[in-house]
Amino acid sequence: MDIQNVCVLGAGLMGNGIAQICAQAGYQVALRDIEQRFIDGGMNTIKKNLGRDVEKGKRTQEEMKAVLGRIKPTLDLAEAAGNADIVVEVVIEVMDVKKKVYGELETIVPAHCLFFTNTSGLSITEMAAITKRPERFIGTHFFNPVPVMRLLEIIRGYETSDETLAIASEWGKKIGKDVIVVKEAPAFAVNRVLCTMINEAFYALDEGIASAEDIDKGMVLGCNHPMGPLALADLVGNDTLLHVIEGMHRELGDKYRPAPILQKLVRAGRFGRKTGKGVYDYT
Ligand code: 3HC
Repeated sequence: MDIQNVCVLGAGLMGNGIAQICAQAGYQVALRDIEQRFIDGGMNTIKKNLGRDVEKGKRTQEEMKAVLGRIKPTLDLAEAAGNADIVVEVVIEVMDVKKKVYGELETIVPAHCLFFTNTSGLSITEMAAITKRPERFIGTHFFNPVPVMRLLEIIRGYETSDETLAIASEWGKKIGKDVIVVKEAPAFAVNRVLCTMINEAFYALDEGIASAEDIDKGMVLGCNHPMGPLALADLVGNDTLLHVIEGMHRELGDKYRPAPILQKLVRAGRFGRKTGKGVYDYT
C-alpha cells in the first residue's frame, strides 16, 4: 500500500509531534483538532521545534518551510480524513470519546484507509470492534517528546491483519522510529513497566520516604535515568498517567492502585508542564 496522505486527529502533546515527523518523512499531513486554540498551539510547537533544528544547523530554512508546507491544519473532520490513507487518532485517553470519533470517521474515510490509534494503554480490540474495518485497525504508541524518542510500540488488536501490521511497521520505520510489536494487554509492554515505576515514586512521595527532588535525583544519579520519575510524570501529563494507571488497576488488580497523591494532583488541575504546575512549579 502506497501511503501518501496521513490524517492526524489531535494537535496536542503527542499529535503535533506525530504530524511533524510524518511531514518530515515526506507525507502530506492533515492535522485536525476541535478548537482553533488547540490547532494554533500544536502548529506553534511544530514551528518552535523545527526552528530549533534550523538554529542548530540540523535543517535549512527551506527544509523547515517544506515540512510546514506539508502540514494542513484544519477544524473540519471531513476535510482532514476525506482522502486519508491512514488516520492516526490521538484524541483524549477516554474510551467513549475515542469510539465516538471512530463512529464519525467510518462515514468519511476512503474504503482502503487504515486506522492507527495512539493510546497509552486502552484496548485496541474494543475500539476496532465498533468499526467496519477491525482487520485494518492497529495501535501505535508513541513516546514523549515524539520527535526525540526513538521507540514506536505497535499493538496488534484481536482482528488486526498481518498486512496491517506490516504496513504500520514499515510506516514506523519510514518516520524514523525503531519498532517493537507487542500483544494487547493493559498498558502494553512499556507503560506496564514505566507507569508502575512512576506510581511507586508517587507512593514513596506520599509516604514521606523522600522529597520529590530527592526521589528524582536518586533515580537520575543512581539508575542513570535521563530524568526522575516525578519530573517525567509532569512531562507526560499527570492526567494521562492517571488514566493509564486506573486502566491497569481495573484490569490487573490492586497491585496497580493509583497513588492518592497522584489523584490529588489531577483533581487540583496540576497536570504537569502543560498546565504550568504538577509535582513541580513551572510558572
Ligand atoms: N520536543 C522536541 N525536542 C525536544 C523536546 C521537546 N519537547 N525536549 C527536548 N528536545 C530535544 C532537544 O532539542 C535536544 O535536541 P538535540 O539533541 O538535537 O540538541 C534533545 O531533545 C535533548 O534535549 P535537552 O538537551 O534540552 O535536554 P535533555 O538532554 O535533558 O533531554 C529529554 C530532554 C529528551 C526529555 C530527556 O530528559 C529524556 O529522554 N527524558 C525521558 C523521556 C521519556 O522517558 N519519555 C517517555 C515518556 S512515556 C510516554 O511518553 C508514554 C506515554 O504513554 C505515558
